Amino acid sequence: MDPGNLARLEAWLQYAEDLKLGPFYRDRIPRHHLQEAPAGGVVALDNSVAKSESRTPTISAAPRPAPPPAPRATQKPASPPAFVPVATGPSLFDERVEGDTLERIREDIGDCKRCKLHKSRTNIVFGVGNPKAELVFVGEGPGHDEDVQGEPFVGRAGKLLTQMIEAMGLRRGDVYICNVVKCRPPENRLPERDEIATCSPFLLRQLAVIQPKVICCLGACAAQTLLATNQGISRFRGEWFDYRGSKLIATYHPAYLLRNPNAKPEVWKDLQKVMALLGLNPPPKRR
Ligand code: URA
Repeated sequence: MDPGNLARLEAWLQYAEDLKLGPFYRDRIPRHHLQEAPAGGVVALDNSVAKSESRTPTISAAPRPAPPPAPRATQKPASPPAFVPVATGPSLFDERVEGDTLERIREDIGDCKRCKLHKSRTNIVFGVGNPKAELVFVGEGPGHDEDVQGEPFVGRAGKLLTQMIEAMGLRRGDVYICNVVKCRPPENRLPERDEIATCSPFLLRQLAVIQPKVICCLGACAAQTLLATNQGISRFRGEWFDYRGSKLIATYHPAYLLRNPNAKPEVWKDLQKVMALLGLNPPPKRR
C-alpha cells in the first residue's frame, strides 16, 4: 500500500481506538484459535492472539469526516473493555449507501470474485424472504444444499430453522434469511477473516435496507461479525443488543442443535424472547 495511504489508515484506526469505536473485524480470529464451548458456543482460546491480529476496515460508500490528527504514540486506552459488542450508529466504516435496495446490493455483488470462495461455489446465495421483514435470521454461510440451490438454509439445518420459524407462528416467507458470506466455504469450513471482511459489507447493507425490528444471529460467526467481538456466543446468547436501530439477539446455530439436541430448550427460550418483542403468539398445538 502507498505509504501515505497506510499512514492515513493507521491514523484512522488509532482514532477509532481512541474513541473506543472498534472497527469491525478487529477481533476476528483464525479457526485454530477457537474451540467449541461446552455449551456449544465458540470460545477464543487466546485473546491476546486475537487482539494482535491485523485489522481490516470495511470500505465505506458514505462520505467520511476529515482525517483525524496523527496518532499519539503514548496515549493508549488504559485497559480496553473486555467486551464492547454493540455498534449502535454509523461507524467510521459505515457501509450504508444512499437509496440502497436489495436489488442494487445483488447487482453490486454481481458475479463476485472478490475472495477465494468464488472458486468453488456453484451459486451465490444472496438471501431470501420478505424484504420488509420484521425479523431477519443471519447464518454463517451456505452449505452444500444451499450452494446447489442458491437459497440459504434449505439443507438439514435449514429444515430445522423452518420448523423453528413455524413454531414461532410465522412462515418462512414472513422473515428474511441470509448469511455472513454468500458463497459456500469448501468442506463447510468456517469462513475466514478475509472472506468475512470482503462479504459482510453486503450483509450490513441488506440489514440497513430491511431495517428489521429484530436480527437473530444463528451461531457464533454471525454474532461475532455483527457485534464485532471474539467472545464465545455462550457468553452473550439470549441477551438483547441495540444494533443500528434494530434489536439483535444471538442464539445457537440450527446445525449445532442437530448435533446437540439438548440445547434446543435454550434456543426456544431465545426465540420466545423474539416472539415477545414482536408480539407473536405460538400457533395452537396440533393434536
Ligand atoms: N448454515 C448456514 O449458516 N447458512 C446456510 O444457509 C445453511 C447452513
